[in-house]
Amino acid sequence: MEREANWPGPEGLIPALPKDASNASWHTRRFLDEILIEERIIGTHVADISMQLWGKRFASPIMMPAFSHLNKAGLDHSPIAETIRIIKPFADSEKIRAQMDFAVRHRAFAVGIDIDHSIGTDGETDVVDGERLGTLTDRDIEGFAEFAHKLGVPFVAKGVLSSRDAAICEKAGADAIVVSHHHGRLPFAVPPAMILPDIRKVTGKMKIFADCSVDDGRDAYKLMALGADAVSTGRAILPGLLKEGAPAVEKKMRQMNCQLKELMGYTGVETLDAFDATVLWYHGRHFGAE
Ligand SMILES: Cc1cc2nc3c(=O)[nH]c(=O)nc-3n(C[C@H](O)[C@H](O)[C@H](O)COP(=O)(O)O)c2cc1C
Repeated sequence: MEREANWPGPEGLIPALPKDASNASWHTRRFLDEILIEERIIGTHVADISMQLWGKRFASPIMMPAFSHLNKAGLDHSPIAETIRIIKPFADSEKIRAQMDFAVRHRAFAVGIDIDHSIGTDGETDVVDGERLGTLTDRDIEGFAEFAHKLGVPFVAKGVLSSRDAAICEKAGADAIVVSHHHGRLPFAVPPAMILPDIRKVTGKMKIFADCSVDDGRDAYKLMALGADAVSTGRAILPGLLKEGAPAVEKKMRQMNCQLKELMGYTGVETLDAFDATVLWYHGRHFGAE
């Protein structure tokens, strides 16, 4: 690859996570690994994993996540995939609006904000690339959702990790949330898979996406069985992307799709709207059993 020499290796690129118990990605990985799946093979069919989202059809519900800091990746102006543009929660709200407008003019089919990137590790509002970030109120979210709708696209709040915030986002007019801890921004964050069923209960209209430690298609299956409409995979695609570029990501995505489809076939889930959390077991009991 021509650009490879310019790309940073994963070591400096992927933010280092703490080695102690506060590492949310560690809890998330462990929680996903402890969810087991029962078989419902009789009468099953080969699954269809295609997804309809806001009038578009996708081959799979497994997406790329919001990624920045990828240096040279994507700067060759090669044709881009359908994109939901996630913007930082800049303290300067005009900057957010300007970036939303830019994104829509450059073919993003939805826009959003990673609302969980307000606070930095020093407890102050974070600073990214010299830009001060800010905190958002429910009124702010309402305003950004309205602005997105005026631009003609859905609005996504990324980084929701409680039923409280999910309900606020829905009331404020968000069209989707991403249930996520942003690969461990919040120390001791609850795993998205653990909280998804509760979030499902308090929401109705919004699409629910989820990410964090979706390393293969089996993780995707578990999150979707627990209530996600689609998922994104972050760090799992980075080593291949940085070493070999797009072909490695395509290969990984194809593999993840096969794994998702395999598990759907084994559990009698024919389409993405037919997931059933009761196939999941956790510590010897059906998931969610009292
Ligand atoms: C290198 C890197 C850059 C990221 N940049 C952003 C970003 O700019 N905005 C954002 O909302 N999330 C960002 N994320 C978080 C991802 O969108 C996603 O929430 C997270 O990586 C999912 O967890 P996983 O890496 O365990 O799959 C980034 C993650 C990584 C690893």
